[in-house]
Amino acid sequence: MSYKEERSKRTAWMMNDRLGLFIHWGLYAIPAIGEWKQSYERIDTKDYKKYFYEFNPVDYDPVQWAKTAARAGMKYAVLTAKHHEGFCLFDSAFTDFKSTNTQCKRDLVREYVNAFRAEGLKIGLYYSLFDWHHDDYPHYGDLYHPMRDNEAYKNHTYDFSKYLAYMHNQIRELLTNYGKIDLFWFDNSYGNMVGEVWKATELVTMMRALQPDIILNNRLEVNASSRGSIDTEKPSAFSGDFVAPEQIVPPQGICDDSGAPLPWEANCTMNNNWGYVTGTANYKSAKTLIRKLVECVSKGGNLLINVGPDARGNIPAKSIEVMNRMAQWMTKYSDSIYGCTRSSFAKPEWGYYTQKDNTVYAHIFEQCIGPIPLQIPTDRIKSIHNMYDFSEVPIVRPWTTQLFPDYTFVNFGNPPQATFELTDEIDTVLKIELET
Ligand code: GLC
Repeated sequence: MSYKEERSKRTAWMMNDRLGLFIHWGLYAIPAIGEWKQSYERIDTKDYKKYFYEFNPVDYDPVQWAKTAARAGMKYAVLTAKHHEGFCLFDSAFTDFKSTNTQCKRDLVREYVNAFRAEGLKIGLYYSLFDWHHDDYPHYGDLYHPMRDNEAYKNHTYDFSKYLAYMHNQIRELLTNYGKIDLFWFDNSYGNMVGEVWKATELVTMMRALQPDIILNNRLEVNASSRGSIDTEKPSAFSGDFVAPEQIVPPQGICDDSGAPLPWEANCTMNNNWGYVTGTANYKSAKTLIRKLVECVSKGGNLLINVGPDARGNIPAKSIEVMNRMAQWMTKYSDSIYGCTRSSFAKPEWGYYTQKDNTVYAHIFEQCIGPIPLQIPTDRIKSIHNMYDFSEVPIVRPWTTQLFPDYTFVNFGNPPQATFELTDEIDTVLKIELET
């Protein structure tokens, strides 16, 4: 099997499932201004440790998290096992800076894995390549390290090989002690800290030996600003299985050099931060997120939506509200998402098409004047139903449409030239079966 064939075989479930939940959780939930505080404010490990002593997520209930995610139609999840601050949400033998040593004494990763797996979701783990806690990670002169411009660290010597051993050991633990891990999300390479600097070939070889089906993102090689060698004829051993654009939906989807579609997953925040922030400002609505999900699917990709649980272990109420509204829509319309991809028909003006084999889904976002024009030849259409109530949507030819003979027009009700009524304010979906 070629590398590309292996890659599409590995990513098949993920590209079918389309929607995932990202969870950014760590000590940074306590200062509650996002996960970069330690770096921005140049806080040293000694001072940052106060959050370690305070951490006690008494409300952590991953079963509820998993149920909320599953209801919202999410088929997989990715939890930050270790973010940049270096704090581990799992019981690692290689550090004391871990959740089992905090007041809660719990292995938060284990509980997450068990709960989400029981709910039928696939399991993803996020792991930060860089580490602001480990002594042997470069401090002075690094791009992001909290001590990057602290003169006191100028002549400090580090043994980066020790850090690499630590990182490899922890990843081995994560892939050995928690059963099947479906997806691994590295974050991220930067500056000169890319690829083989992480001993990436060796790492990937070890990971694939432990978990042969595991899907990897492309950030061992790059950050969100590039695809890396995944899109070339000769991908590196650590080019990953999918591209991971961040806080953006790719304007045309993502293809390789030959124009063939590549697996990709856009990740986005629900508000403006990954880690927990107090306050409910700037949340994306369920309507926006559903429409962006549809857009991703119509371009052959996935959407990974983030929540940042608070210091007590609660997913913010506002996020739950958005997910519950998504759940309502997904209950009725998820067939137009799962297993769907780009359509063979051009993007319509009123929304998007998604397609699965001979079924095209018309996602109508915008009210038209008169009936809905479809750029699908009439003789190719076998049937059209509104997914709202599975009512038949007739093809109509009122005199008002005669000027546009190349289009198929649909409408229900009378008269046929009346304005098509959108039956779902988030996204009205027509299911169009094509003749075989
Ligand atoms: C950015 C953020 C990081 C976050 C990641 C998710 O790289 O800096 O904190 O985890 O996005 O894609």
